[in-house]
Amino acid sequence: MSRVLIVGSTGQLGRVLMAWPSGHEHIGLARADCDITDGAAVMAAVTSRRPDVVINAAAYTDVDGAESRPDLAYAVNAHAVGHLARACREVGATLVHVSSNEVFDGTAQHPYDEWDQPHALSVYARSKLAGENAARFYHDRVLIVRVAWLFAPGGNNFPAKILAAADRLGRLRVVADEFGNPTYAPDLARALFELLAAGAPPGIYHLTNEGMVSRYEWACAILRLTGRGHIPVTPIPHTEWPRPSRPPLRAVLANRAAAALGIRLRPWHEALAEWAAAMGYPPLP
Ligand SMILES: NC(=O)c1ccc[n+]([C@@H]2O[C@H](COP(=O)([O-])OP(=O)(O)OC[C@H]3O[C@@H](n4cnc5c(N)ncnc54)[C@H](OP(=O)(O)O)[C@@H]3O)[C@@H](O)[C@H]2O)c1
Repeated sequence: MSRVLIVGSTGQLGRVLMAWPSGHEHIGLARADCDITDGAAVMAAVTSRRPDVVINAAAYTDVDGAESRPDLAYAVNAHAVGHLARACREVGATLVHVSSNEVFDGTAQHPYDEWDQPHALSVYARSKLAGENAARFYHDRVLIVRVAWLFAPGGNNFPAKILAAADRLGRLRVVADEFGNPTYAPDLARALFELLAAGAPPGIYHLTNEGMVSRYEWACAILRLTGRGHIPVTPIPHTEWPRPSRPPLRAVLANRAAAALGIRLRPWHEALAEWAAAMGYPPLP
């Protein structure tokens, strides 16, 4: 049994990781315990707990907000990852660092492989890419795990926003030309611990549910599974949904590295059905 320190333990993914029955000892590190932008505090927190593995699920995740707060985005998503990597090196721990599909610009015609060259478009995306580089600059036992469109029961995520907007407005307009892979946090938690159990070598891993989908199709599926299939949804181009940040339109990830170890996540629509059940919605007939 290993000691696994879960950084960002109160976040959407962190909560799922904390509760996951991995067979290891889980130690949570929340912002209240340690602000990870404080390098000395990170070193003290990690060296005093002496974990075998550190999973970094902490991040500044407000993609649009990062455009006006680049210093904060870089402090949390890049420099703090360097602090964690140095602390992991100090205690000999493996660092599993969670990153994002947004490190790609979404212009490729194929799903991105782990070895494809990133090109980040937004401040958030550039800060996440810098975090990947900082982790590997300071430590050699680093698994970078890129995920996309993360969701879990109770989290602040796209499905929750769609439900809230549908109930408030009674009709929706949803972008139909932005594509991605939904990633159900419990499926990700399982795959992360499977990677560790398989002794996965340092490197980059793409872990998302299988299949790509547009925001529009995903919204329609969310409404259908939650008894709101009657709510009208108008597909719109991204140009009709202005945002402070520029999201990649097709930053779809291919899982090759983990799949080579036999680790795959199920199709996104199966995961979404489980999410709906966990949220208390009865299964569709
Ligand atoms: N959400 C998505 O759609 C998505 C997509 C692709 C990749 N990702 C990546 O997946 C990972 C997990 O995302 P998530 O949705 O679980 O994020 P989340 O719910 O926003 O949780 C982020 C966590 O980081 C903590 N945190 C932020 N700043 C901190 C600081 N200075 N010191 C210590 N802790 C700090 C937050 O603490 P507080 O609660 O106290 O603020 C929170 O617990 C992140 O790396 C994210 O970039 C997410």
